[in-house]
Amino acid sequence: SKLEMFIDELPNMPKQQGYGFRDGVFVPGNLTVGMYEKLWKFHRDLPPTRVFAYGTSKDSATVPGPTIEAIRGVPTYVTWTNHLPSRHILPWDPTVPTANPHPGEGVPTVVHLHGGVHPPASDGNAMSWFTAGFNSVGPAFSGATSYYPNRQPPGNLWYHDHAMGLTRANLLAGLVGSYNLRSTDLEPPLGLPSGDEFDRRLVLFDRSFLVDGSIYMNATGNNPEIHPQWQPEYFGSAIVVNGKAWPFLRVRRRRYRFRIVNASNARFFRLFFSGSGARGLRFLHLGSDSNYLPRPVHSRKFLLAPSEIADVVIDFSKTSADDVVLANDAVYPYPSGDPTDEFNGKVMKFLIARAREEDPSAVPKRLLTLPAPAVHRAAVTRYIAMYEYESSTGEPTHLYLNAKPYGAAATETPRAGSSEVWEVINLTEDNHPLHIHLGVFVVLEQQELVEAEKFEKCMRKKNDAAACGVAEHAKGKRHRVPQYERGWKNVFKVMPGAVTRILVRFAPLDGGNFVFDATAEPGYVYHCHILDHEDNEMMRPLKLVH
Ligand code: C2O
Ligand code: CU
Repeated sequence: SKLEMFIDELPNMPKQQGYGFRDGVFVPGNLTVGMYEKLWKFHRDLPPTRVFAYGTSKDSATVPGPTIEAIRGVPTYVTWTNHLPSRHILPWDPTVPTANPHPGEGVPTVVHLHGGVHPPASDGNAMSWFTAGFNSVGPAFSGATSYYPNRQPPGNLWYHDHAMGLTRANLLAGLVGSYNLRSTDLEPPLGLPSGDEFDRRLVLFDRSFLVDGSIYMNATGNNPEIHPQWQPEYFGSAIVVNGKAWPFLRVRRRRYRFRIVNASNARFFRLFFSGSGARGLRFLHLGSDSNYLPRPVHSRKFLLAPSEIADVVIDFSKTSADDVVLANDAVYPYPSGDPTDEFNGKVMKFLIARAREEDPSAVPKRLLTLPAPAVHRAAVTRYIAMYEYESSTGEPTHLYLNAKPYGAAATETPRAGSSEVWEVINLTEDNHPLHIHLGVFVVLEQQELVEAEKFEKCMRKKNDAAACGVAEHAKGKRHRVPQYERGWKNVFKVMPGAVTRILVRFAPLDGGNFVFDATAEPGYVYHCHILDHEDNEMMRPLKLVH
């Protein structure tokens, strides 16, 4: 049986202020956010679903969790607490490197603020996990309270679980939430649509549900004799936005701002408008991931990989239709999926009010000016190669970056304050969204490999891009970086069979110095943001040095 679409109204998640206000000035904020097991209604016709949810109490916990509102220049302290039961609601696989407390000691969790520039001890390192009541903690655990300085430019962050080997199951269970970093001086003059009604978050993910309402996750691995439960990618058959399957939103005939997060494990979205209202409508991109673009950019369709964030304005006065559907046509897995397969073409519906109205909002010609990438000042060029390994049956068993497991000593050791060029070589057939903690990067170019098989053979033997002649092989077709992604990003879609060159900056974007020691333990990480890959073991330590 199929769930009827556009039945539930899109909720706005509750907001939590990550700042205080005293004697006319903003002061640092202290929040406590817990993780609770509870029941959540994903659809009118679906029985309540057991989930893990973030909230300031069990009753108020939601999926996604509360949107944390932070103010640039005002630190936010969050004490993350775990109230989860001893057993997970979803299958997990102890044969991938996993946070694994003693039986009965609870579900390990740790929170990462994605896109945040904060000290390593507050980064949600995969080994700093903890269980309910801090009964059991991982080897890198250093305290319950995270410090987010909020010194970076304003933009869109999100928080989610990052526990070793459990990230895919913990996010599937519901541990995701939004974090808006606003500037009280830089943003108001832009005049963009604002306020709870016109400036909204859309958190997208796919889930499969059983008729009893529970989340379905396949409990048999694709290589059960190697990993009894691990599957290379999770794909769900329902599209959920802000915790409702295929919701609708009533909008006025004016501009809205939507900050769209892809919180799926593995699904890419290529979003566009469909239906009679589609013709006049387009997306006006303000930002990509955590930063503004220098100028707004139009698109009719855009691709959003897991954990990417698009910040767009939609002007509903540009259509005369009464409704329009936000649709998706990305194949899964991307881009090797079957195009004739059913790919959940619909995401949500906007019901547009008939009346025309005054719209006081605007989209200026220029947004915020951030430093331009200075390639000539890059200190180092590194090669990062992506590998997939298969069993004798041709099924993926695990994935590595630079042919190394997570546990091998850090090989990426940039100097704090420096910039580096990374040439990311994708030797697999899937697109991998690469995410770098702390750093921000600009995508310089993407170029296909020629004689890719020969190159891959050499790489599998030597794992040495220079010795295998990467320069001679990176001579194929060039792919341009879409305008809407030409900003400072923290995730990018690394094309299969190609070399993607990025300029990564391990320095604050505001030009100052880090207000914390970025070289401290336990360091940072970089990884593929397909969660099923990240867990097994497409993640590596990133250790900044002086
Ligand atoms: Cu969004 Cu390391 O994660
Ligand atoms: Cu991947």
